[in-house]
Amino acid sequence: MENERNDTAMIQADQVRFRYDPHKKKYAVDGASLQIRKGEFVAVLGANGCGKSTLAKHFNAILLPESGTVTVEGIPTTQEDKVYDIRQKVGMVFQNPDNQIVATVVEEDVAFALENLGVPPAEIRSRVDEAMEMTGIYKHRLKGPHKLSGGQKQRVAIAGVIAMRPDCLVLDESTAMLDPRGRETVMNTIRRLNREYGITVVAITHYMEEAAQADRVVVMSGGKIVMEGTPKEVFSQTEKVRALRLDVPQAAELRDELVKAGVPMPEGIIDEEECAQALYELLK
Ligand SMILES: Nc1ncnc2c1ncn2[C@@H]1O[C@H](COP(=O)(O)OP(=O)(O)OP(=O)(O)O)[C@@H](O)[C@H]1O
Ligand SMILES: [Mg+2]
Repeated sequence: MENERNDTAMIQADQVRFRYDPHKKKYAVDGASLQIRKGEFVAVLGANGCGKSTLAKHFNAILLPESGTVTVEGIPTTQEDKVYDIRQKVGMVFQNPDNQIVATVVEEDVAFALENLGVPPAEIRSRVDEAMEMTGIYKHRLKGPHKLSGGQKQRVAIAGVIAMRPDCLVLDESTAMLDPRGRETVMNTIRRLNREYGITVVAITHYMEEAAQADRVVVMSGGKIVMEGTPKEVFSQTEKVRALRLDVPQAAELRDELVKAGVPMPEGIIDEEECAQALYELLK
């Protein structure tokens, strides 16, 4: 599909199988293989219960495969003496910001994990300030997290992970509980961390508009990876995407409707701007 790079993958999952109950037949992840390259922004989509969170938890050794392998920068997650290194390289951000905030002042919250690791105070100070700048919450550093909006709280949680200087962020529906504005600020922050700071991003999302911003989209179904490609490659297969009980971006849907109505719209339209441009060309 795309050219393979020579550098080691950020994350490499090979034929991963996992079940929560070894006495039952059902596998939550059922033979998933996936490579996340360094610097990539990958969105993971799939209907409820298809195994997205379970697979993501394999990326920093929260879960270990029953069979198959996961490596992080070449290190197998089963290597017990490397679990700390792996968790430092791959940071996880979850759905509910309230469950991830532990301190009563923003900057203390961001510093929390570093303090627990015994990082020297001066180093903590500089890393925490940097993380708060990177996530756009520096101006709120002295506030109580409970006074912040959902989007701001989620950025505090991201800053806490960024302060660990991870190479990769895994976000499990980290915008799902936010209002549209909060979602946008968090997405902008994630994109900036990816583009400006080169942090690899794996974002599980139910929002097609968010997935459309990724370099690559991976679709899961029944514990397996069933589609993979650029957002254009994936979302232009509207029938197949819908058959997996997923939406397509509104612009792709509109393009399909127009084609059905006899308007000769070009292929591969997935965002509003492209859609508007194509209509404009047709009307000229
Ligand atoms: N802690 C658990 N114990 C037992 N079964 C679980 C547990 N967590 C998830 N499962 C089951 O494993 C399967 C995959 O769940 P998972 O949470 O990975 O899916 P998901 O794609 O993240 O879903 P969602 O979109 O709802 O977050 C489902 O059948 C789910 O019910
Ligand atoms: Mg999930």
